[in-house]
Amino acid sequence: MSTPSRPNYGLDAPGVVRNLTVIGAVLVLLGMLSGTVAADGPLGWLRHLQISFWAPGLALLLTAVVMIWGSRVGKVRFRERILDGIAWRGDEQVLDVGCGHGLMLLGAAKRLKTGNAIGIDLWQKEDQAGNSPEATMANARVEGVADRVELKDGDARKLPFADRSFDVILSSWALHNIYEREGRAIAVREIARVLKPGGRAALADIRHADEYAEVLRAAGLEVRRAGPSFLFVIPTYTVWASKPAGA
Ligand SMILES: C[S@@+](CC[C@H](N)C(=O)[O-])C[C@H]1O[C@@H](n2cnc3c(N)ncnc32)[C@H](O)[C@@H]1O
Repeated sequence: MSTPSRPNYGLDAPGVVRNLTVIGAVLVLLGMLSGTVAADGPLGWLRHLQISFWAPGLALLLTAVVMIWGSRVGKVRFRERILDGIAWRGDEQVLDVGCGHGLMLLGAAKRLKTGNAIGIDLWQKEDQAGNSPEATMANARVEGVADRVELKDGDARKLPFADRSFDVILSSWALHNIYEREGRAIAVREIARVLKPGGRAALADIRHADEYAEVLRAAGLEVRRAGPSFLFVIPTYTVWASKPAGA
């Protein structure tokens, strides 16, 4: 098998993209069919419904296109903006929570010299198409950072790391996949626990940013919210947090 020349950071929410595409295509097809009905025939009244098929059909197809663009192009640009917001020394210990194909993980690893980047995930294929540690490691090899990347199977709600282990913690579009509020709060408290004093965290997500910010503040971190960014149609906000030195 030949080695790909570019990383594949995975199609997010593949089921949603598929449903938008199928329903959108069916509605556009119905719009086309109703437009071809003879004006004076018994089904001529259907012509008046054309716009009611076309408009939502095109809107759904456009949403699917934006989501595919977000997964293939937009999120890589977004990642670079987030990582540019961190003053890298090169020796950091980095954690990516819900790393999937390694978007944040590998981008961070490229900025390290002596540091290491660890990605933890449950590898759920409904959250990202083709999700697996093998796919992420293949991306790490393409990016030339496999020597400073480690992958772990695990749940954000029970991070298998000691307190104060990481200088930088990143998470992109992962925590909203924990459906219960208390489960998300536990995951965010875990992130606060394993962050070193003086460390920084950036949590980007399409939902629950205020919730993450509240939990981080309650854990004693300094917090600010950035965004929105519309690369997946629904606005993404990033919660930036710093753990005060000595905390
Ligand atoms: C939409 S994907 C995003 C992946 C990657 N962060 C990115 O930006 O491309 C969400 C990821 O979160 C992972 N995930 C969902 N719930 C998780 C949990 N409780 N603990 C760890 N990972 C989780 C999924 O397996 C999936 O890889």
